[in-house]
Amino acid sequence: AKVAVLASGRGSNLAALLEAQARGELPVEFVLVGSDKAGAGALRLAEAANIPTLALDPRSHADRRAFDQELLRRVAASGADWLVLAGFMRVLDGAALKPWIGRIINIHPSLLPKYRGLHTHRRALEAGDAEHGASVHFVTAELDGGPVIAQAYLPIEAGDDEDRLAQRLLPLEHRLLPAVLGLLASGRLQWDGRAARFDGRPL
Ligand code: GRF
Repeated sequence: AKVAVLASGRGSNLAALLEAQARGELPVEFVLVGSDKAGAGALRLAEAANIPTLALDPRSHADRRAFDQELLRRVAASGADWLVLAGFMRVLDGAALKPWIGRIINIHPSLLPKYRGLHTHRRALEAGDAEHGASVHFVTAELDGGPVIAQAYLPIEAGDDEDRLAQRLLPLEHRLLPAVLGLLASGRLQWDGRAARFDGRPL
């Protein structure tokens, strides 16, 4: 399966995907890494791995919809079957998303449906939650609102502050995202409109 990744930031989740693939644990081909930020670390990681990159500046487009359409048109042109949002900090326009529904996933650092949007670690701490986590979900036009595929759980510890919690969660994200992508891209996990259905064969 061919996979494109969009990321706005440092790209540690992208790095985890590339490492899983390099270890032979993720049978996909990365055909494009795109970003809305020319300085994104994710683009440097992709360049180092010889993956084609795309930096598209939202300010050089008439409006949000024009940007999203151009971005997803370029992703489609890469030949990608799957699109992974790995720290991509924009909400994509519903019409532009349409051809990707069911083939686009996002990793979000909370136990959805809790804490959509930003500052998830702080919000989990402020709420006094006993546990925190990360979710991989299908993307819809609703921010962090699409069907959840899988979650990784992390007990909150007494010494956690926002940074420590984020840092302790990150390795779980780095295992969750490649695992889910691998199952989806190999057809072993399929969305049936209600749930992600696992084929039951040995992992
Ligand atoms: C991760 O916490 C991810 O869950 C969130 O943004 C962060 C991106 O980190 N959506 P990185 O760029 O993958 O290092």
